[in-house]
Amino acid sequence: MTLKEEISKRRTFGIISHPDAGKTTLTEKLLLFGGAIQTAGAVKHNKIKKAATSDFMEIEKQRGISVATSVMAFDYNEYKVNILDTPGHKDFAEDTYRTLTAVDSVILVIDCVKGVEEQTRKLMEVCRMRNTPVIVFINKMDREGRDPYDLLEEIDKELSIHTRPLSWPIGIGSEFKGVYNLFDKTLQLFSGDKSKVSENVIAVDDLKDPMLNKYVGEDYANKLREDAELIEGVYEAFDLNLYREGYLAPVFFGSAINNFGVKELLDTFVKIAPPPQPRVVDERVIKPEEEAFTGFVFKIHANLDPNHRDRIAFCRICSGKFERNRFYYHTRLDKKVRFSSPVNFMANDKSVVDEAWPGDVIGLYDTGNFKIGDTLTEGEKLQFKGIPSFSPEIFKELVNKDPMKTKQLEKGIRQLTDEGVAQLFVQTLGNRKIVGTVGELQFEVIQFRLAGEYGASCEFQPKDYYKACWFTSDNKEQLDKFFVVKPNNIAFDKENRPVYLSESAWMLQKAQETYPDIKFHFTSEFAVNEKLQIR
Ligand code: G4P
Repeated sequence: MTLKEEISKRRTFGIISHPDAGKTTLTEKLLLFGGAIQTAGAVKHNKIKKAATSDFMEIEKQRGISVATSVMAFDYNEYKVNILDTPGHKDFAEDTYRTLTAVDSVILVIDCVKGVEEQTRKLMEVCRMRNTPVIVFINKMDREGRDPYDLLEEIDKELSIHTRPLSWPIGIGSEFKGVYNLFDKTLQLFSGDKSKVSENVIAVDDLKDPMLNKYVGEDYANKLREDAELIEGVYEAFDLNLYREGYLAPVFFGSAINNFGVKELLDTFVKIAPPPQPRVVDERVIKPEEEAFTGFVFKIHANLDPNHRDRIAFCRICSGKFERNRFYYHTRLDKKVRFSSPVNFMANDKSVVDEAWPGDVIGLYDTGNFKIGDTLTEGEKLQFKGIPSFSPEIFKELVNKDPMKTKQLEKGIRQLTDEGVAQLFVQTLGNRKIVGTVGELQFEVIQFRLAGEYGASCEFQPKDYYKACWFTSDNKEQLDKFFVVKPNNIAFDKENRPVYLSESAWMLQKAQETYPDIKFHFTSEFAVNEKLQIR
């Protein structure tokens, strides 16, 4: 198969949702339909339950298991589907954000009872940054959920995307009769039998057909006729390009647990979702069909078992063909590297892979050479910059408890933050190290790993910061003044970019007013964003 053919059959995507909306269930059902697993329940162990928050070792154990399910590849018809798993646990949200840099599209799962929730908003913000195409799956239609029009309006408004229903529900909850596919003009009747796939698909080309009354009852049939007319009048027509540009989000309704609406979703997904897309690097735009191989590391998974200190770096292939045992150029370290046992992931299995193509994700065993964002090429000096860091939510100062182990502590905290466990900000004044995370769990992880892997002992002192904002300005005078006035609130990230640690929303607002020429950025990706907007 040629490079072009390999690219056109690949679909690399992520499933995102607020915890409990049904991401795990949907993933599992997609794998079942794809023939990648045979029984339900196989993916469940991957889920980190909320109850386990206080026991991070338990979580890490589960994360260990989840290495195998970090990428779930399967063949479906003529397509090769790569699902990139995103951790559901909120404390690992940064992992999810990074994974979203490696996908070409997403399926967003929304619980029809709860609608748009907090994590949904944050995840969609990340998708909006790159105009990632989104398909919405409104789940749990077997429950007494909200009115579908309200749900769509809420999604449009809160997630700044234009929805376009491609299927429409008939009834909801105990009265849920099924869905009408507005695209294929078929009626699918709901059976509520978890053990079976609904095969009840009936072609209904014309909704005026009196047979419709027989299938769903006269009242529901009339309601569907009205709804269909209204939808055609109110919503813009489905346009593939608008979807692929991330402007229009097709919507499906279903019930993952009941296998309802899932096959339909998958069938449409493989047809409309984009194949591997170009990637913006600092120097230029990389197209997947370029012959020379390029790839970047978006996730690093450390093995916490002291007997196996290896790490796996997850590399997304962006262009060309990757081959085992060939030398590639590690652009940050400026050296040649070779991988004798790269792995790919097929549902619950991983196996050594000889070659891989754009859109694929391979696991590279690593002894400390990689950090997030590292780039591999055939010799060209390129650097992926699109891996965002968001302003952390919790800040603590790292305090060394054993002065004899200062070096180990320095090395340890640098390596752990390279892996993306947390963000590190260093204040020039006194070389104070502020660690920022999105969840409390990471502090436990760091403390434990610094002791276990580096022999360093530390303590964390809470810092009452509200946000960390990267800042830039062309006005040197204002910038200099800001540095002089705010030394206690300024630190540098690992790339040596200045960051303002603000104690409150009010202080941030004050700073913005006092220094109007200074731009404050809430993600580290501001440079790429600007570039993307220009594009
Ligand atoms: P998540 O990965 O997004 O966190 O969600 P997950 O799939 O684990 O689903 C969360 C809960 O919602 C699960 O119940 C699951 O069975 C249920 N669920 C998923 N899809 C549907 C659906 O279409 N209809 C209904 N009614 N429920 C659905 P749980 O009680 O938390 O877990 P479990 O005991 O069933 O494993």
